[in-house]
Amino acid sequence: MNEPNKPSETRGWDTYWQGTRDKDSYALGGASHPAITSFWDDTLSQILASTTNARILDIATGSGAVIEKFFHHSTDAQPDITCVDISDAAIDGVRRRFPAITGIVADARSIPLESFRYDLVTSQFGIEYAGLDALDEAARLIAPGGTLAMLMHVRPGLIFDECSAALDAVQRTQKAEFVERALRFFESGFAAVRGADRAPYDQAASDLNPAIEAVDTILSEHGEHVAGGTIAKLYFDVERIHTRIQTHDPDEVLEWLRTMVRELADYGERMASMCDAAIDEKAFGDAGERLRKHGLTIAQGEPLLPVDGVLPVAWALQAVRAG
Ligand SMILES: C[S@@+](CC[C@H](N)C(=O)[O-])C[C@H]1O[C@@H](n2cnc3c(N)ncnc32)[C@H](O)[C@@H]1O
Repeated sequence: MNEPNKPSETRGWDTYWQGTRDKDSYALGGASHPAITSFWDDTLSQILASTTNARILDIATGSGAVIEKFFHHSTDAQPDITCVDISDAAIDGVRRRFPAITGIVADARSIPLESFRYDLVTSQFGIEYAGLDALDEAARLIAPGGTLAMLMHVRPGLIFDECSAALDAVQRTQKAEFVERALRFFESGFAAVRGADRAPYDQAASDLNPAIEAVDTILSEHGEHVAGGTIAKLYFDVERIHTRIQTHDPDEVLEWLRTMVRELADYGERMASMCDAAIDEKAFGDAGERLRKHGLTIAQGEPLLPVDGVLPVAWALQAVRAG
């Protein structure tokens, strides 16, 4: 779908959620850490115990990771849940996953919903992508007696460090032109297999060598797991195809490498936006101040630390409006 009027960031998220939906893979967004699970378990069980027919709003919902946790705690067949995201692919996916919810495609800075309606407003690694102005909008939507519960990217932090390493690895792989050089190498390699002149192949092979060395260094510095293993897989697949070039379909290999150029660029953009969204201690203090100006009281505002860890996974924030 080509939608030129959408900002590139929104298109990036659309592509991402389109891809995850097609692969049916929903365990994304760093949402599976035990400290995160127990934050939501505590928050949701508390709200459900104290409020009947709670009205819930999840902002920047993505694949509905928070809503999934809600359904672990509630057996309500007709819950009042609204999910908002800027990406229509995300909202399409979440509607398919949870047909009972209301899905709205909107920017978190301007949500077309009634003020003071929601008993629980949640956001997990979401609102900070819209900038802290989105906090004003979240505060507007909280009902008297209601709670805002959020996990936000923290810097420095576990996820931030992982994303920074991934971004560095992707950018250096791009700078070394590993995929582009591999593409030229295989184009001339397949031509040589069909009997064409070998000179372009030899030239492409010597052009590829420094890129191989660069990726080798990236993997030994960051480890093969960096960037979700994408770069290691790419590297070893190129090596594997090269050793048995005659057995591979040229069109498939070349198409795969062209796709990898785009995928690497998308992945790098997503890592950069995660790093940009992460907030430091000062910005977290400002966020609390902003919510207080809207009449909310901060019930929890701290880094969420794993039991055995030093680096936080997120900022955990709960703010309540007096009933
Ligand atoms: C890292 S994902 C988190 C998704 C989900 N909350 C989770 O924990 O898995 C960030 C989400 O924010 C959404 N997003 C980015 N900018 C936004 C904006 N300005 N308004 C609303 N949603 C936005 C993206 O589409 C994406 O779904």
